[in-house]
Amino acid sequence: MNETPQRAIWGSKLGFLLAAIGSAVGLGNIWRFSYMAFEYGGGAFLVPYGCALLLAGIPLMILEYTLGHSEKGSSPLAFSRVSPPWEWAGWWMPTVALYGIMLYYAVIISWCINYFFFSFTLAWGADPQNFFFHSFLQLTDSPSELGKIRIPIASSTFLVWFICWIICYREVNHGIEKACSFFMPILFLLTLILVGWTVTLDGAGDAISNFYLKADWNKIDIFRRFNDPEVWSVWIAAFGQIFFTLSLGFGIMITFASYLPKKTDIVGNALWTSIINCIYSFIAGFAVFGIVGFMAHAKGVAFSEVIKGGPQLAFVVYPEAIRQLPFGQSLFGAMFFLVLIFAGLSSGMSLIEAFTCSITDKFPWSRKSVVSVICLTGFFGSLVFTTQSGMYLLDITDHFITNYGLLTGGIFECYVVGWLLKAHNARNHINNTGGVRLYILWDVCIRYFTPAVLMIMMMQSFLGELRQNYGNYSTDALILFGVDWLLLTIVASVVFTFYPWKREKLKKRHHVSEDHLLT
Ligand code: ALA
Repeated sequence: MNETPQRAIWGSKLGFLLAAIGSAVGLGNIWRFSYMAFEYGGGAFLVPYGCALLLAGIPLMILEYTLGHSEKGSSPLAFSRVSPPWEWAGWWMPTVALYGIMLYYAVIISWCINYFFFSFTLAWGADPQNFFFHSFLQLTDSPSELGKIRIPIASSTFLVWFICWIICYREVNHGIEKACSFFMPILFLLTLILVGWTVTLDGAGDAISNFYLKADWNKIDIFRRFNDPEVWSVWIAAFGQIFFTLSLGFGIMITFASYLPKKTDIVGNALWTSIINCIYSFIAGFAVFGIVGFMAHAKGVAFSEVIKGGPQLAFVVYPEAIRQLPFGQSLFGAMFFLVLIFAGLSSGMSLIEAFTCSITDKFPWSRKSVVSVICLTGFFGSLVFTTQSGMYLLDITDHFITNYGLLTGGIFECYVVGWLLKAHNARNHINNTGGVRLYILWDVCIRYFTPAVLMIMMMQSFLGELRQNYGNYSTDALILFGVDWLLLTIVASVVFTFYPWKREKLKKRHHVSEDHLLT
């Protein structure tokens, strides 16, 4: 297969794996997974989570790696080589990733940077909830009251985009690969230290065994409670979490795989990425349950009274727990927020890379200027989330982008690979590149099972939307920051599609589709 001469290649297999794991391990692993485990049956949640990993996560990870590797391109290029009318869908995924997710993801990382510095003086004081909502965010009463830009948040958001710019400015093997080779070992080490420290605290062990590892099978018993929507919501949440945590549907893994050499172990890489990511979530859960258990013990209240989901877990519950620590409060706080910063940055730069590569694959612009424009426009786009109503806006955008944007992207890629490229051709490609072999069960998953599950999840979310406005926000706010945001990304994707491809790219597409891929 012809290879575009200037296309970068990962420096090593480990470098690629660290970058892919860096993308997967993010803020979602730390606060999203643990809260879900608490909410949905403790240890029993691992059953739907494991099923989601096996039946949707790993098959889709293999699919994304295969598509990027076989078509040697970012998602728009890969989609258009398989079927030109589907190019717009290939654009949609990285557009949603960058201008949907990264805009607010950068702001959350900027909160972590602020809190990293607050840790040294325990600036949140005796009332972290009041500090977070009123002193730090200065949250308005509703999303329609934008308020002012919060300068401390905006300036650290600038720093986040600046760091990402420095890293993404260089080709992946010099930028992201080197950065992740530095970030990921530190991230793993700090997480292990935090877990080790946390489990020695009073009350931590009880919380871990009673709320994290103890299984409430009734919550997941889909056979006995088949008609109960509550049990279905647990299974749906598990599939949603797997999708988000593995960075699927963003176009990232397609792009990353396009930088792999011809001979590579696609299935092995997909297994390593998925399994290490999930093990990380599981281990991070010990730190979360442990510290919340310690705090409940120190305050003499029930565990369920103190645990909270989403940003409140990191910015209210954790600071409160840190304050209760008998010693090393600042060190513990700084380590925790550093873990979040590293996890966030390694995911953030992959969101930028997916879009950058899409643009440089199609347009005759240099990577350096593309990354510069993306980071500058990205920073200005993020500013809306740094206003006093930023937290509401971020919540609404996240809800619509993850529940509809990413899942739709996943369904599209199942269709493009499973039906247009044909699953058996993709599987032949995998089996010809060396490494672990793949069997027909994978075809069944990506043609039928995985898209069906994703459609059911979207349908459930949509029905929920009709029953009640998400988060009790006003319909206007939901339309403006949720639905409109999604529509804008679709319009942008269609606009990108109209620009013609460079000639040599088209030539390569014919070559690829003629022999149905490569050895
Ligand atoms: N996979 C990344 C996370 O979990 C986006 O935060």
